[in-house]
Amino acid sequence: MAKTIAFHLQKGGVGKTTISGTLACQSALDGFKTLLIDVDPQGNASSWFLKKTPKYELADVVQGRCYIKDALVPVEQVPNLYLLPTFGIGGVLKNYSETKLSEEPFVLQDLVNELSKDFDHIILDLSPGLGRLERSAIIASGEVITPMTPEVFSLDGLEIFIDELKRLKKNLRSQVRHSRVIINSYDERIKQHRDILKAAQEGSFEVYRIPVDPVFRKAQEASMAPQQYKERGRGLKDKTVESIMKLESVIWD
Ligand SMILES: Nc1ncnc2c1ncn2[C@@H]1O[C@H](COP(=O)(O)OP(=O)(O)OP(=O)(O)O)[C@@H](O)[C@H]1O
Ligand SMILES: [Mg+2]
Repeated sequence: MAKTIAFHLQKGGVGKTTISGTLACQSALDGFKTLLIDVDPQGNASSWFLKKTPKYELADVVQGRCYIKDALVPVEQVPNLYLLPTFGIGGVLKNYSETKLSEEPFVLQDLVNELSKDFDHIILDLSPGLGRLERSAIIASGEVITPMTPEVFSLDGLEIFIDELKRLKKNLRSQVRHSRVIINSYDERIKQHRDILKAAQEGSFEVYRIPVDPVFRKAQEASMAPQQYKERGRGLKDKTVESIMKLESVIWD
């Protein structure tokens, strides 16, 4: 059975897609059959990895318009990586989550259970917010890891998320683990970043860091894994690679 991780904070732009995609690539490059499910109506993970629009998307699967296997897309550039995509344009997933999802909050959990026979690792990339869609994705996961940026508003966001998650777990009888936080775009030369790191470490969380690295954005623009991207022979910073390997070594335990 695959281990399933969602990366979530309701705040936008903290690196959910960048971290989901990068860790999915790392898992696949390490030889694990890995699935990235794009549960964000914006479809950012899908536009990152897919060069052409596939026939079906996640919303088609959950509404029974196609078989799961017809919607899974192998990512050409990254061996062992598969994507269950969402098209940003068209809004089918958004429409589904606003109209039908309330009647079937466990639809993603059932889908993940079915898929977990065929994969080693499953990662869910979520949209910002904490509505029905994000809640369904969280309860479909064994673990939710929170990415945040080194700012006070992200720390506030973490507190809100902890509180909401408590309620969600109780209401939906979920056992989802939440014990890890990733401070993304961290720069140790900046005092404010060091202060936020300290504050995050005061809680009961394991706190990880990913440095600021322009290669993430460049790799996304080039439809590549950050680990594969090179410009004049140079790719991710050594510190970034170290941070990814550290996360990879703990999250799949
Ligand atoms: N460590 C990093 N260093 C430099 N740029 C980064 C880093 N992490 C993310 N970015 C950039 O920041 C932007 C926002 O990241 P991303 O899209 O992953 O956030 P998100 O939380 O998924 O956003 P949303 O809430 O809209 O889904 C992107 O342009 C991405 O390339
Ligand atoms: Mg995103």
